[in-house]
Amino acid sequence: MPLLLMELMGGVKRFSAVLGLQHYLSSEKEGKLIGFVPTMGALHEGHLSLIDRAAEECDIVVVSIFVNPKQFNNPIDLQNYPRTIESDVSLIGDRNVIVFHPDYNEVYPENHSELKMDIGSLGTVMEGKFRPGHFDGVITVVSRLFDIVNPDRAYFGEKDFQQLAVIRFMAQKQNREIEIVPCEVMRERSGLAMSSRNVLLTDEERQRAALIFQVISSAGELKDQYSPIELSESIRSRFKELDFDLEYVEIVDPITLISLNDQWLADARICVAIYLGRVRLIDNIAV
Ligand code: PAF
Repeated sequence: MPLLLMELMGGVKRFSAVLGLQHYLSSEKEGKLIGFVPTMGALHEGHLSLIDRAAEECDIVVVSIFVNPKQFNNPIDLQNYPRTIESDVSLIGDRNVIVFHPDYNEVYPENHSELKMDIGSLGTVMEGKFRPGHFDGVITVVSRLFDIVNPDRAYFGEKDFQQLAVIRFMAQKQNREIEIVPCEVMRERSGLAMSSRNVLLTDEERQRAALIFQVISSAGELKDQYSPIELSESIRSRFKELDFDLEYVEIVDPITLISLNDQWLADARICVAIYLGRVRLIDNIAV
C-alpha cells in the first residue's frame, strides 16, 4: 500500500496523507457511521472524552491532529502552541481510532482557496472581536477536514462555545449532513476547564487559573438577584480585585451570542477570556 502511509500502533491507525485516509475509509465505511473529532493535538482528558463519546455512538472514529496556522492571529501563540504527536498517540492508547495527522500541504494544497463565509455577528463578538481572522481560519480548516473525512457526526467541546456556534452555522449554511455534537466542558478537580494551553501555565498560574471557574460559577448562583448586565459588571469587578488580566466577560444568548442586557434567557452563557502571564484561557458556564 505505497500511497497509504499507514502505521499501526496498538489499536491506533495513523495516516498523514489525505489519499491514504480516504482510501482506507472508503474500503471500510459501507453501512457504518463515521464519527470525527478534530483537534490541534496536545490531547488531554477533555479530548479523550470526545473520542470515547464518538466511539460509543459511531462505528469508525477519526481524530485529526493538525495545528492550523490560519486560525492564529498571534504568531507567538502559534509558535508556543504545544506539539506532542507521539504522546498524543500514546494517550489514545489502545482505543480503536484512526489518527489523521497531515502536514500543512496536505490540508492546504497549492490550489486551495480560503473559505469565504459571512458568519454575521457570530464572528464579531468575544473571540471574533479580540482575535480578528480567527474564525475565518477555523471554518476554513474545519470545512476542509469535513470534506476530507466526510463524517456523519462531528464532536466539539463546549469550552470553545463560540467555535461550536460558528461551526454549527457553517455546517447549516453549507447544507452538510453532519450532526454537530456538543460535548460538555471537562474540568480538572480544581474546576479549571481542561485545555491544551494549560500545560503552558506555571504551577502558580495554574492555581490562580482555578479561580476563573470559581468566580463565574459563584456569579451564576446570583442570577436571580441581578440583570445580565449587572452580573457581568460584578464579575468584571471581582476579576479586577483578584488582579486578573480580563479580556472580556459577556453574558450571551446561547445561539446568537448576542449580549444580554436586562432580560435573562434560558441557558444564557457567561463567557470569559483571561490572560495568565502569556497564556490566554477561555471558559464559560450555562446559567
Ligand atoms: O478546537 C480546536 O482544537 C480547533 O479550533 C479545531 C476545531 C480543531 C480547528 O483547528
